[in-house]
Amino acid sequence: MLTRRQFIQTTAIATTLTSLPAISVAMGSGPDYHYDLIAEESAISILPNTQTPAWTFNQQFPAPVIRAKQGQPLTIRFTNKLKEPTTIHWHGLRIPIAMDGVPFLSQPPIMPGETFTYQFTPPDAGTFWYHPHMNSVKQLGKGLVGVLIVDEAEKPEFDHDVVIGLKDWRLEDDGSFLPLSIPRYAARGGTLGNVKTVEGKIKPIFEIPAGGRVRARFANMDNTRTYNLSMKGFNATVIAEDGNAVATPYPLVDRKTGVGMRLDLGFIAPEEVGKEVIVYDKKGKLHFEIFRFKTVASTSKKIHRDIPVLPVNPIASVDIEQAEKLSFVFEWAGALSPTKKDGSVKHQFWTINKRAWKGMSANNLPEPLARLELGKTYLITLTNTTPHHHPIHLHGHTFTVLKSTKRDITPYHTDTILLAKNERAQIAFVADNPGQWMFHCHVIEHMKTGLMGFIDVT
Ligand code: C2O
Ligand code: CU
Ligand code: CU
Repeated sequence: MLTRRQFIQTTAIATTLTSLPAISVAMGSGPDYHYDLIAEESAISILPNTQTPAWTFNQQFPAPVIRAKQGQPLTIRFTNKLKEPTTIHWHGLRIPIAMDGVPFLSQPPIMPGETFTYQFTPPDAGTFWYHPHMNSVKQLGKGLVGVLIVDEAEKPEFDHDVVIGLKDWRLEDDGSFLPLSIPRYAARGGTLGNVKTVEGKIKPIFEIPAGGRVRARFANMDNTRTYNLSMKGFNATVIAEDGNAVATPYPLVDRKTGVGMRLDLGFIAPEEVGKEVIVYDKKGKLHFEIFRFKTVASTSKKIHRDIPVLPVNPIASVDIEQAEKLSFVFEWAGALSPTKKDGSVKHQFWTINKRAWKGMSANNLPEPLARLELGKTYLITLTNTTPHHHPIHLHGHTFTVLKSTKRDITPYHTDTILLAKNERAQIAFVADNPGQWMFHCHVIEHMKTGLMGFIDVT
């Protein structure tokens, strides 16, 4: 039996297939939160008058924004039309391991031509994102990244809600790809893109309603770059960090947003029509423009002058007294492991607790970094001994950042913590989601050259 949604989609396919590419019917969102997502090669235009042979979701960049609702089931029927296997991971969502989208650890790779249906109920509201978890330098680097929004069970009132996906590209002038990874950079901060985009555009201007209450959802979906987001003197409020509402919203000064991290800002747009507000990447004392907002006339009655406070997500509170202590040390250990049979060398630059990920397959799972007991609180010290920063990410759980040697911390919830050089931080969480959960640096080349592992919660 078809649901109403599927029926509408089927009908739409029948009537539009001859004139339009499949993308127009591939997406659906409705009260039943059902989506179709297809990964495939597709030419897009990033640099003016050129074509880039990107890898896309539903033949578009930016990828479709998947919109779900807190506590409501979400279904994503994913089809792999790439020429290689893949999986899709839902970054920041606390969902069952079988839906986590990590090859071998949580599911077999989805082979070319195959379809896999992801189905889960997001417990938390906020700004999240999705991406493959295989051959990630290439798959993410070529464009397979998208935003996933989980709306609050009771939606806060904003006049305007805007997604700001940040992603760099490595392109020649003709739009073709430059090499996505250069080993000498992978061994340092990672290989940076040479074309920065916001929602796939270079320094775009986003229209916002004059005098309106705006919610801006930043998502850093790049492979490498850390942004330090700033609006330089303009009044904006941090309402959520990395998908999680902050208990006490605070004014934005600047906020380092590493790979995989998000930032939700709330602000009142200027009253005057045609006024521009610039968003910057702040480096030291310098401000570099990323993009700008511009006010347009709006008819909505803007009676509210305050920024709504978002409901805090239902994260289990940690029991520090009873916590078990663990320690993870991130180190640089540059090495080229022996030449492989095909003549290529495998680089290994980084380790967690002296171990580098040796790669895995169905019958070759490495040992977990740690075994955690279901329901117990863990207090973990993270030590970055390297001169580079690392956005360290844990799957399946949201942790609380408690302390850092580099900055004052008001404890906050996140799934990714950016460790500055030589920083030591303390985090805690309740291991309340059974499974084998990836724990890795989100600078994709760091992850691919050793900085990853997993924890086992049973
Ligand atoms: Cu964005 Cu392993 O995650
Ligand atoms: Cu993740
Ligand atoms: Cu790293």
